[in-house]
Amino acid sequence: MDKRIIANNLLIDDEMEATLRPRFFQEYIGQTSVKEMIQVAVEAAKKRNESLDHVLLYGPPGLGKTTLAQVIANELGVNIKVVSGPTVERTGDLAAILTSLEPGDVLFIDEIHRLPKIVEEILYSSMEDFVIDIVVGKDSGAKSIRVDLPPFTLIGATTRFGDLTGPLRDRFGIVHKLEFYTDNELETICKRTSEIYECPSENLAVIELAKRSRGTPRIVNRLFRRVRDYADILGDGTITLDITKLALDKLKIDEQGLDRKDREYLLSIIEKYHGGPVGLETIATSISEDPLTLEDVYEPFLIQKGFISRTPRGRVVTEKAYRHLKKGYQGTLFQ
Ligand SMILES: Nc1ncnc2c1ncn2[C@@H]1O[C@H](COP(=O)(O)OP(=O)(O)OP(=O)(O)O)[C@@H](O)[C@H]1O
Ligand SMILES: [Mg+2]
Repeated sequence: MDKRIIANNLLIDDEMEATLRPRFFQEYIGQTSVKEMIQVAVEAAKKRNESLDHVLLYGPPGLGKTTLAQVIANELGVNIKVVSGPTVERTGDLAAILTSLEPGDVLFIDEIHRLPKIVEEILYSSMEDFVIDIVVGKDSGAKSIRVDLPPFTLIGATTRFGDLTGPLRDRFGIVHKLEFYTDNELETICKRTSEIYECPSENLAVIELAKRSRGTPRIVNRLFRRVRDYADILGDGTITLDITKLALDKLKIDEQGLDRKDREYLLSIIEKYHGGPVGLETIATSISEDPLTLEDVYEPFLIQKGFISRTPRGRVVTEKAYRHLKKGYQGTLFQ
């Protein structure tokens, strides 16, 4: 398929995803304890008529960090400005964004671990004292002037909590990790999607979709759309269990929700490295994948499922994974 078509499909997927995005706490399913704690903080800030403390959300992709940031802004009744860490290249970019905020607004910085160091350092005083030091002029004529900012709430999101510097982490008053969703929660999300799209679905189909969606709302919605394509072509548009199974098999998503890449990852450790331990870089090279993508996107789910474990000497495939892939397990000497 040519690149443009893939890009267009992803674009359409993104747009469709936006229509499904919950806007208020009530529609935001799961993450119960995180939601509850944030709800209390939001209510308290509103009651005191203050800006909400800065919030850091972290966890694997597709679990609802961006969505939660938007819900928080909606519940506070303020504007949200969205930027991505690597796009804020210069301190002047940050200054322009911060000075354009209104009191109480939310600034959402996605991929905050990728903020350039020099920009990050300017952010410290903005977060702490709501001031920013801007350098004007050049060389010997350069001087720094201090500009007051409106009180605002910074919401940072990251898939790599460990990559955040200590000083940045310490400046967030509210820090939460989002966890994978339970099958039950994904079923609720899937039913909601089915209603929004006005596309009827059998209960058993919803259960199957939830089970095979890697604990991730974005994936359950994506798979729903793919299955809906098959339902429109092969049936009367209703998502049945048979059509769901057929579509997911065609997409090479197995009963545990593993896709081709997950299986390739596990099989490469089993077949080339006797089940491990083996270093991430080595695995990445052997399956031609970027190590960061493996670490952020694939491994968290495989660990949560108990298919791999991380040891000081590298990744090890568990007996459970051998069984799942129908491979003979001989144990590993190094576990
Ligand atoms: N709690 C939830 N309830 C219902 N739907 C949700 C929930 N969380 C996320 N979703 C759905 O999943 C989609 C992906 O969520 P979102 O974009 O917020 O993930 P993310 O954590 O920001 O991912 P990334 O790390 O890739 O930026 C949303 O568009 C929304 O439709
Ligand atoms: Mg996001």
